[in-house]
Amino acid sequence: MAGTFDVAVVGGGPGGYVAALRAAQLGAVTAIIEKDRFGGTCLVRGCIPTKALLQSSELYTLAKGGAPFGVVAGNLSFDWPAAQKRKSAVVDQLVKGVEGLLKAGGVTMVSGAAKLLGGGAIEVAGERLQAKNILIATGSAVSRIPLQGAELTIDSDAILELKEIPKRLAVIGGGVVGMEFAAMFAALGSKVTVLEMLPQILPMVEADLVNAYAKHLSGQGAVIHTNSKVAEVARVGGGLQVRFSTGAEGGAVDADQVLLAVGRSPYTEGLGAEAAGVKLDRGRVVVDDHLRTSAQGVWAIGDVIGGIMLAHVASYEGVCAVENMAGHERIPDYHAAPNCVYTDPEIAHVGLGEKEAKDRGLEVKVGRFPFVAAGRALTLGQTEGFVKVVADAASGRMLGVHIIGPRATDLIAEATLAVQNGLTLEQLDLTMHAHPTLPEAIMEAALAAQGRAIHIPNRRAAAASGGANAPSPGSA
Ligand code: NAI
Repeated sequence: MAGTFDVAVVGGGPGGYVAALRAAQLGAVTAIIEKDRFGGTCLVRGCIPTKALLQSSELYTLAKGGAPFGVVAGNLSFDWPAAQKRKSAVVDQLVKGVEGLLKAGGVTMVSGAAKLLGGGAIEVAGERLQAKNILIATGSAVSRIPLQGAELTIDSDAILELKEIPKRLAVIGGGVVGMEFAAMFAALGSKVTVLEMLPQILPMVEADLVNAYAKHLSGQGAVIHTNSKVAEVARVGGGLQVRFSTGAEGGAVDADQVLLAVGRSPYTEGLGAEAAGVKLDRGRVVVDDHLRTSAQGVWAIGDVIGGIMLAHVASYEGVCAVENMAGHERIPDYHAAPNCVYTDPEIAHVGLGEKEAKDRGLEVKVGRFPFVAAGRALTLGQTEGFVKVVADAASGRMLGVHIIGPRATDLIAEATLAVQNGLTLEQLDLTMHAHPTLPEAIMEAALAAQGRAIHIPNRRAAAASGGANAPSPGSA
């Protein structure tokens, strides 16, 4: 395996493998080193398996509510082992796909844990390889907190492997991981309790979207405790008990399983980064605006550099880094990094929130459109939620889009294109939208921001957006 490469990528997740493929496209002799399975956390233990399981819970929910659609399922039940089996098959197929792509791209795949030796040398499984440029793409690992009884909890890896659906699930941490599992298990009949120490679950999402989602989840019987700090997890009888405090008040939740989902931390264990001259800051690899670390010829991307810890951000950074190695000038631009939460209904957003924009001193126009007024949402029977568009008041330039509703995570693509390219509300509404489709709701929200929505009375549109969009002269 020993050899000399132009680029050696350490870590085969969506950051690393995409970077390796791009490096090979650029003509670099490339190696990629992975100690587990190619595909990384996202593909093996994160995004993909959870979304495969969520598809099972969504189908179950749809089937349960099938009667009005003419679908009557007698004796409906949920087969958890079958859902698990399908999830694993999806993961296996994708891992094989990634390996196939790397092979076809001429990238040398190396199995083992890499240790940086300095001067472009890397040790893997007792062998040594040499690279002109090294890309650290080692990702992140589940964060642990000093919590009494932490050993009684499960993390996002272990919950994917549960043998049965817990009757009672307590979730510590109302972030993305916590809420996606809360959504899944609430749909599958678990009694879910979420404990979040901040005043709001999903702290990075606009408050009005979160309120709409919290209402939905509560309707499924889940309980959400915000401003609640967990003090201890203890074994009580045959089950577990999570003890927490909300201000001066104390509380306790009984559960069969407790998911600890309080974030992820950059992962550099065993990498020898600092010894090789790579500066770390509280475990995070420090990079400049070109994604160079402090060590000559060593670059880093993805979760290990902190910032926005999302798979697609890592892939984007991976491409930027290897293009920079090849002499291009790619400075990552994060202003239109989309964020997706696979709850039910889904939540997705891109760009600035209404409050965030105002806090920056910007004057904004806001438009909203509810899915209940969209024909396609009605045909789907999924009318909960809305689209909210935030635009610069003077220029109409779209600053942010926030969606809760059916397929929000797909809908955000059009909004991302608009925000990334600084399109205006008018450019969006002058673009013909196919009917009947869900993206029409984005066009209508853009119209609402200008006081001329077609499928809701504009008085309502203006009121819904806090009166920010006074009808323009002559509008209906
Ligand atoms: P997170 O940082 O999103 O959320 C953790 C939550 O735990 C925060 O709201 C925090 O206030 C809360 N918390 C921390 N300590 C607590 C305590 N002692 N008691 C109660 N609450 C406490 O982290 P999460 O959800 O674990 O996700 C990890 C990473 O994975 C994130 O970067 C996330 O963006 C990413 N991810 C992205 C997904 C997506 O894009 N759909 C899906 C899943 C994860």
